[in-house]
Amino acid sequence: MDKEKKDMIFLDRNESQYGPAPACFEVLKGDNFKNLTEYSRDYSRGVKSVLSERLANDFGVPEKNILLGYGGEDILKQAVHCYLGKGDKIMIPSYSWWYYKKIADEKKGVKIEYPIVEGEDSFYYDMQAMLKIYEEQKPKLVLISSPNNPTGNHLEIDQLKIVLRRMKDTIVIIDEAYTLFYNSDNSHLKDLLSEFPNVLIIRTFSKYYGLAGLRIGFVLMGENHAELSLFSARYLGYNRLSEKIAIAALDSCEYYDDMRNKMAADMDMYLKEFNKMEGFKAYRSYANFMLVKIPAGIKDNLKKYFTDRNMIVKFMEEDGLFSHIRITIGTQEQNRLLLNLLRSFLAKTVANEFVH
Ligand SMILES: Cc1ncc(COP(=O)(O)O)c(C=O)c1O
Repeated sequence: MDKEKKDMIFLDRNESQYGPAPACFEVLKGDNFKNLTEYSRDYSRGVKSVLSERLANDFGVPEKNILLGYGGEDILKQAVHCYLGKGDKIMIPSYSWWYYKKIADEKKGVKIEYPIVEGEDSFYYDMQAMLKIYEEQKPKLVLISSPNNPTGNHLEIDQLKIVLRRMKDTIVIIDEAYTLFYNSDNSHLKDLLSEFPNVLIIRTFSKYYGLAGLRIGFVLMGENHAELSLFSARYLGYNRLSEKIAIAALDSCEYYDDMRNKMAADMDMYLKEFNKMEGFKAYRSYANFMLVKIPAGIKDNLKKYFTDRNMIVKFMEEDGLFSHIRITIGTQEQNRLLLNLLRSFLAKTVANEFVH
């Protein structure tokens, strides 16, 4: 990486700033490179991969109910491409990752938005409106993002069950790319999958485990997804080095627990500090990012000020979120630096040092 890029702080794409557990680097130091010269033999053992086997064991579900993919991005595309036909309806949250709409468009599906609403301290799913739209539209697929990107809100397990009990006649994809930042307890998943055979729960190693470049995600499937299993079969296996690094991450709970505690404390700090600043409003988030409303009029100057000082956050451009920034929660040092930069920007703004 060139020097300038190395000094940049990228808090715009929700990548982990803590990085993966040390055990992941150890895999690269060992003699595992020879794995790259051979296909895996896992398929002939009747499982997809050592990783799907491990995940099945951790979650207490049969291995056949887990599929691996090239990140959550790939799994989402596979699920939508497998199930959504031309003209079929798919429900998508109003504020959400743009990619959902893109994959629906690729299949010429009909996109139906359902509301995520701005509340007092956080955004939330309007469950009543969501269920009403579902009954009226009878979609082929429903996409729920929990926690949702960029708003950071989520559905609690009990809320999710209420929704799923009313949506038994469709395929429900739950994108849980960020869920571990809030809750690392997976004990509910086994029961959820057996109660709801129509459900697909998508997870990834990219965010919490700090392995975005590894490109591994997976889906936990209810029993009704034989079609998707066939559609996504990879007879020659997966990236064998990535599988080993992912397993090293799964073995490193202590490292990740410590990271999560630090990030949770910094989220509280952000909420407190942003909400003290005039014209700012930070929304409670259950992911590794936070949406913050900024005063109208400072957007362009703030963007330049931050960029000139190598601090990159996401300035939102979506309808309804035009005065918002989304900040990936960084390390403790990065988060304090961001607040200090913001304070010095605001002091200069008050002193009228910016030409409008
Ligand atoms: C909501 C959401 N889902 C899934 C992903 C996919 O991540 P990956 O393909 O790296 O697993 C992202 C990435 O930003 C995301 O924001």
